[in-house]
Amino acid sequence: MRYQLAPLFCRPWTLNGISPRLIESHYENNYGNALNRLNALTEELELLDRATTPAHVLGRLKREESAALNSTLLHELYFASLGGDGRAVPEAMAAALVRDFGSVDRWRQEFIALASGLANDTGWAVLTYVPRDGRLINQSATDHSQSIAGGIPILALDMYEHAYHLDFGANATAYIATFMRNIDWNAVQGRYEDAVKVAPPRRLEQKEFGDVPAISVEEVASMLKAGTPVQIIDARPRHYTTKAQDIMEGAVWRDPERVDDWIGELSKTEPVITYCVYGFHIGCQTAITLRKAGFDARYMAGGHYAWKAIKGPVKLLQ
Ligand SMILES: [Fe+2]
Repeated sequence: MRYQLAPLFCRPWTLNGISPRLIESHYENNYGNALNRLNALTEELELLDRATTPAHVLGRLKREESAALNSTLLHELYFASLGGDGRAVPEAMAAALVRDFGSVDRWRQEFIALASGLANDTGWAVLTYVPRDGRLINQSATDHSQSIAGGIPILALDMYEHAYHLDFGANATAYIATFMRNIDWNAVQGRYEDAVKVAPPRRLEQKEFGDVPAISVEEVASMLKAGTPVQIIDARPRHYTTKAQDIMEGAVWRDPERVDDWIGELSKTEPVITYCVYGFHIGCQTAITLRKAGFDARYMAGGHYAWKAIKGPVKLLQ
């Protein structure tokens, strides 16, 4: 494929304190070069004989392709970030910044500090929306890389020297302040509104256990930390526990095949949490059995390994 050039988004003559000459040079030379490099690399990769190309050659070309593609995309976003007065953050965008940073000022301080830190380096300060968590995050991307997987950048500040040297010399601080004064917030908000429509990655859905209430390992950890009375049952199958070495702290192992033998030990006044190895079947089934018997039972999503993955305390399984 051939990547297409995007026309310059902002109107250089309307910018406040950034000269058209700088924007023209930046667009023509740096953005243009990134796009041309990207197309050259794409062509080289297309023509490559996969059977005879050494792995390290392919690896290098793919790294260069990523850098050229990110440079192209971030430059397009950079030019699309400019053209406003930088001051009036529209309502929906302001609310999102308050939600994720505490206040618009706190976002601004962090973004400026992040950009300032790149002044003697090379990279981008980027405001990115992450659909997985439904939140915004400031990030730096040095060498046109380190973009957040699945993240959607909505505002980008180019901190490569070529982006400011012509007008500002080495004065990166003045350049950053000028950029902030020229942010087109309406355009940023438009991109934010598009980004929030992107569905988060699909979560594990257990249709067969859809009606059984689950609890996350983080919630269980908070309950234990707060001293909330709770009965935790490790319901990993017997054959599994013979080779397992550890058990969640605060849990007791009970054989899921013999619920009738131990159900009488449980109290109905305290909630019960059950779990198995990965949280797929046995923990859910045990929770169903207990719920039918009138217990306030839930299964711990992700099971034993999810607990260990959040570094929840474990003890030796006796
Ligand atoms: Fe640039």
